[in-house]
Amino acid sequence: MLPTIDLVAPSLPSWVDQEKESRLVPDTPAFTHAYTNSTAHGIPQIALSPAQGKFTSLLASISGAKNVLELGTLGGYSALWFAQAIKGRGGKVTSIEINKERRDVAIENLEYAGVKVPEEVEILLGAGLDVLPRLAEEIDQGKRERFDFTFIDADWDNQAAYFDWGVKLSRGKGSVIYVDNVVRQLLEIGAVGAAEKDTTLENLVDTVAKDDRVEAVVMQTLGSKDMDGFLFAGLK
Ligand code: DHB
Ligand code: MG
Repeated sequence: MLPTIDLVAPSLPSWVDQEKESRLVPDTPAFTHAYTNSTAHGIPQIALSPAQGKFTSLLASISGAKNVLELGTLGGYSALWFAQAIKGRGGKVTSIEINKERRDVAIENLEYAGVKVPEEVEILLGAGLDVLPRLAEEIDQGKRERFDFTFIDADWDNQAAYFDWGVKLSRGKGSVIYVDNVVRQLLEIGAVGAAEKDTTLENLVDTVAKDDRVEAVVMQTLGSKDMDGFLFAGLK
């Protein structure tokens, strides 16, 4: 059975997010605009929170990442954080988005923030599973560098396929794969927990547990975005 997850009053995690973000992740015009302009264009408010954005950006920064691969651009909020993390390292953020309007809004948001598109952030329009094999070919042909940090924040049914591609396109030992929303995926997909779910798909945690190429952990999170969690994997 699924655990009861409303153990904490919903207002408390949001209050903590507000208090800590106001101190450590203050609003800037670039990041605020990325949120407000996305919402104005009808893009769902499912981007990373400010603290999550800064956290993923710090991970990319401290791991020395030069080239970041992102699955699911949405309005470009996370890409903006990654662009900041890798600035001046000679690489770029390569982000894949299936929805043309979202791609266009992301470009607007990045350019408003002074990020050069496509030099610093390149957004490739298409389905992940169509675009990823093309990236592999370009890497094989020496036209593109391998990735140090892969951020997967797209359709949950394809998380395992994206994870496999992320590993295959990575530079090697020490490269990072970060997958958003894996706790929600665990609760909603696969054989773990309650009955009314699609049990034909294996959840990502089980898939990655069997994957000898990586060491991984899941961290659960609670905040203004309710309960969820991310998977963090390093290539061996
Ligand atoms: C939701 C949250 C996400 O971070 C995401 O990528 C997709 C959906 C949600 O809260 O529904
Ligand atoms: Mg997400």
